Amino acid sequence: MGPMGRCESLPTPTSLVLLGATGDLARKKLLPALYDLYVARALPERFHVVAFSRDALSENEYRTFVRTHATERARTKDHTHLDDFATCFTYVQGSFDDRAAFGRIKEALETQDTRIGICASKLFYLAVPPSFYDTIFEQIAHTRLDLPCTMGEGWVRILVEKPFGSDLDHARTLEDKLSVLFKEEQIYRIDHYLAKDALQNILAFRFSNVLFEDQWNKDFVEAVYIRLFEQFDVGTRGAFFDGVGALRDVGQNHMLQMLALIAMERPDALNADALRSRRAEVLHTLRIPKKEDVGTTIIKGQYRGYLDTKDVATDSKTETYFALKTYLDDPRWEGVPFYLEHGKAMRENLGDITVRFRSATHCVCGETEAHEHPNFVRFSLSPEQKITLRFWVRKPGAKYELLPEDLVFDRHKALSMRGGAVVTDAYEEVLFDALCGDQTLFVSSAEQSAAWEYVTAVLGVWHDQAPVVYDKNSEGPDSDLIREAHEQMTLSS
Ligand code: BG6
Repeated sequence: MGPMGRCESLPTPTSLVLLGATGDLARKKLLPALYDLYVARALPERFHVVAFSRDALSENEYRTFVRTHATERARTKDHTHLDDFATCFTYVQGSFDDRAAFGRIKEALETQDTRIGICASKLFYLAVPPSFYDTIFEQIAHTRLDLPCTMGEGWVRILVEKPFGSDLDHARTLEDKLSVLFKEEQIYRIDHYLAKDALQNILAFRFSNVLFEDQWNKDFVEAVYIRLFEQFDVGTRGAFFDGVGALRDVGQNHMLQMLALIAMERPDALNADALRSRRAEVLHTLRIPKKEDVGTTIIKGQYRGYLDTKDVATDSKTETYFALKTYLDDPRWEGVPFYLEHGKAMRENLGDITVRFRSATHCVCGETEAHEHPNFVRFSLSPEQKITLRFWVRKPGAKYELLPEDLVFDRHKALSMRGGAVVTDAYEEVLFDALCGDQTLFVSSAEQSAAWEYVTAVLGVWHDQAPVVYDKNSEGPDSDLIREAHEQMTLSS
């Protein structure tokens, strides 16, 4: 268990304070992931959760809520532990601006400590929209929930979700507040994409195989295209999404981390310091866009019908789609375009990164006309997890001609052939690593601000622009930029 297998033993005991305990994230990801960890015996002994939310629920009602959502979405189909699992939860009702409510959280933690006769370590999970962070930090400071209960005994850590803030300045203000309460080693900034098996596999692929790393630069790579398409629309998340938009929701974090893993230098070691500093270095080289880039290398889109979504402003300019072409100001990647494209309500669910190599200069291709025979490596995250290598072979027949073929590594097929090992969910990894104290798959303060610097600049240049409207269930807005990316990237046969 654990992404890198470096967590020898779990701390014991621990209390998790889950803020936003009835929200979308808790229901869909956290409760199922906690149940999977529980069944796999990967939670600390005497693990306890103080669940906090606005909803008026009794403890029993919340435990029913836990059982329901763990049953619906957990990976395991073993439901025999649900009742025991639900008894790990106590419920505290309140709002984030209610000081007394944070006093009740403290009491619930103290009650648990008294019950087990030990001072438990404390893990706070802010599973709430970023607009509440300021208030929550103030409440934690005022209630002194940041302190371990006895000096030197146990630890206190905090998990914060993305987007952390709304722009570079806001992120800095939040960082300042957070750093008064917690040291960097106590802060776990989540980007669950870093914990995805498919993304961790990019590291393995790049740095454990001699075949590619020497070619992984501007001399051999022509372009990189990162896509994240979702068929579902904003749905019931209007209140959260309209204040955030697609670029802050998945661009500032998931997609820039995909780019960082593709473009970063080799880390000196497989640990948090080495990996996080390599990722931060590359994010710092993102070229800052200019106003004139809007419409050409920066496209902002909104699907038709978004304005009718519940809790969305009727004149909202919030983007549900973006396409960006950017460069890294780094000698290794000079002149190599990186395309990033994301949209909601798209025709298909698709997540992948395609690296296009330059065509061989002296190709034995059997052609006299201008021709191109580039290699490609494609890392697919969804709908299937694959790595595809496009290469060229001789077409059968009398004439010497070339034919493209693919070598495909399919993670799930490979696993079933190896006896059915399973890929753990990203949120299981996130929770497990935070309990273990391993920050490798979490974002550092330096990564965070580098990503914000670029994204804040994009937000600034497109601020006044109305988004281009696209139809639901389409390929997003029509643009020369995406035509150009497609021309580069199509694995034509
Ligand atoms: C979340 C975003 O961080 O990532 C969602 O808030 C998005 O809007 C989701 O749908 C995508 O994550 P995954 O793991 O489902 O690909």
